[in-house]
Amino acid sequence: MENACAVKLEASSVSFCTMHRDEPQHQLLVLVNPQDTKTVVAVYIKGVWWPTEDVLKTSDPAREGLIKVRTFGERIVLFMLNVVIFGRVERNLDADDMFFLPHSVMEQAKILWRNGAAVGFYTMKMKGSLCGDGSGICYMLPILDTAFIRRQHRRQGLAMALLQDFCKTFQEDEALGISCPISAAMLQVCRKFLLIHPEERGRLWEVEPPGAWGQRVNIWLKVQLQQSHLLESE
Ligand SMILES: CC(C)(COP(=O)(O)OP(=O)(O)OC[C@H]1O[C@@H](n2cnc3c(N)ncnc32)[C@H](O)[C@@H]1OP(=O)(O)O)[C@@H](O)C(=O)NCCC(=O)NCCS
Repeated sequence: MENACAVKLEASSVSFCTMHRDEPQHQLLVLVNPQDTKTVVAVYIKGVWWPTEDVLKTSDPAREGLIKVRTFGERIVLFMLNVVIFGRVERNLDADDMFFLPHSVMEQAKILWRNGAAVGFYTMKMKGSLCGDGSGICYMLPILDTAFIRRQHRRQGLAMALLQDFCKTFQEDEALGISCPISAAMLQVCRKFLLIHPEERGRLWEVEPPGAWGQRVNIWLKVQLQQSHLLESE
């Protein structure tokens, strides 16, 4: 029952979701399947119930490729991809069962648009921006913090394109981070990316915030070590 019309509007089928981790008053009213309250069937935006998949669609032909999130509408799309699609609809299907918290209201993010729909995203922590843990400490390098590609669009090189875009965006920086822990699939993306782009091998680090030297592990080295362990165990 994925159809919004098939779910009765009653107290047990509506709930509020917090859109931004740092703005608890930003709530989105969602319609859930009462038999499975994890399934968000529709979202209430500007007085209308929108079926979940429709929120991710666009009729604007200019929305193609990676586009920076600027408007509140795009923040809703980011929330839907992260919390509803990755966190709920597609989560159980993932073997590694990773998920991300809702992003913060000022999160730097890009959405990947493909054939009229949002199919993925990545978010960044900017060098010099506050870590946001109340310590007053700032990130010491640009960090790719979260990344996601919808299941039916995977293994088509899209995460490689995200990574390439990230590296290109910060081409002046000597070091770039990816937030720890890097998922097993993402490590394989990095492996393939660094095989093709040897010039980036010295620049990409798996990092803990804020990314001081003692909090960095070179990703190419990690890939090499992982491979040699695999060979040894064979
Ligand atoms: C990780 C993720 C972003 C990869 O997206 P993707 O678009 O499928 O990745 P790509 O198509 O660019 O993969 C490039 C290469 O990486 C490797 N790779 C990607 N996913 C892999 C997997 N699940 N297992 C093994 N290798 C994988 C392959 O070598 C692939 O090339 P190939 O398809 O020609 O063999 C996606 O699986 C995802 O969203 N996962 C859940 C969230 C997540 O783990 N985010 C990363 C947080 S650090």
